[in-house]
Amino acid sequence: MFDKSNAEASSSSLRTYSQYIPPRQEYRPPSPPNSSSMSSFSIHSSIEDQAFRMDNGRVYQAQNDDYMRLEGQHDALKVRQGGKNYLAPFQEVLPEDGRDCRLLDVGTGTGIWALEMASEFPEAEVTGVDLAPVQRPEILPNNLSYLMDDVSKGIPFPDGYFDAVHSRLLLAGIRNWKSFINEVIRVVRPGGLIVFVEDIGRFWVDDVSPEESRKRAPGVSKWSDYIEMALTERGFDSNAGSKAIPKLIEEHTLLSERQTVYTSLPLWPWSTDPLLKKTGELMIHDTLSMPETARLLVVDGCSIPNQRYDELVADYMADIGRPGANVVLPVWHHWARKKVE
Ligand SMILES: C[S@@+](CC[C@H](N)C(=O)[O-])C[C@H]1O[C@@H](n2cnc3c(N)ncnc32)[C@H](O)[C@@H]1O
Repeated sequence: MFDKSNAEASSSSLRTYSQYIPPRQEYRPPSPPNSSSMSSFSIHSSIEDQAFRMDNGRVYQAQNDDYMRLEGQHDALKVRQGGKNYLAPFQEVLPEDGRDCRLLDVGTGTGIWALEMASEFPEAEVTGVDLAPVQRPEILPNNLSYLMDDVSKGIPFPDGYFDAVHSRLLLAGIRNWKSFINEVIRVVRPGGLIVFVEDIGRFWVDDVSPEESRKRAPGVSKWSDYIEMALTERGFDSNAGSKAIPKLIEEHTLLSERQTVYTSLPLWPWSTDPLLKKTGELMIHDTLSMPETARLLVVDGCSIPNQRYDELVADYMADIGRPGANVVLPVWHHWARKKVE
């Protein structure tokens, strides 16, 4: 279980909380001439060599194509959420009256969610943390920083530092959700908000039995079986979004005002509902590129040859766009407030 002393003990001697909380400007390397395209991030030497390993979902994120995929997925999530970046009540804990407040985005990926939140809440000091450096093309707002760190070894901030902590789609990044959730709770202040937006290792058809879902989209179902197997093989819980996370939140004695909302994202524009149709349009790139993104995970995790994976992908693709298949990416939003004691 993470607590401050555990996290400190597991860190190198260089890695202390105080070093991770410099004034914001210390995160910003000077911009090279003619480069308005550098984002700001902090690299800690002890994790540099882990940043691009093939584990923890990292190897894909460094590729431009995965940036495109994640940003398309971000846009789809936003449309599905009614044009908002969240369903949880961030406005209740991030005051817009000039008072200092802080927001952490764990596993920030391309950093787009943190960037948009920094614009929406200009009074908030927003930090995005990820295993890899965030490389954004635009000039960042002054209230945003990106930090490079492995949160499975602890979140490098002191107790109660943040007003809100958000983590989204870390299914293939977190092996021990209990420790991670305890760590998130540790760094949020009493009364603060914790938010987990998570999927599972499977696409399915909503509102039908698992058997019917498999019948309607056999290729996607089979491919999902392999994703689940590969995640399990690598020590990840492929059902964390629907089972482990809500259970851990429900059982945690330091939490109150718990809520869960299910919002699935159509994988292509099969719906007649305008909002779902638009979501499906934005998901197409993700849907079509996901099999290549996951190739390494499955080929390696399930020990199958690339040729077998090609067959799985061909069957997956055969389902895409077929009337009646109506496949979605299931997503759960879980949030809670830390009790004021
Ligand atoms: C699927 S992406 C999601 C990115 C972003 N949250 C979003 O919703 O667009 C998962 C991200 O989590 C990061 N990640 C995974 N394990 C991590 C860890 N242990 N510490 C920090 N970041 C991690 C990965 O590097 C990747 O950028």
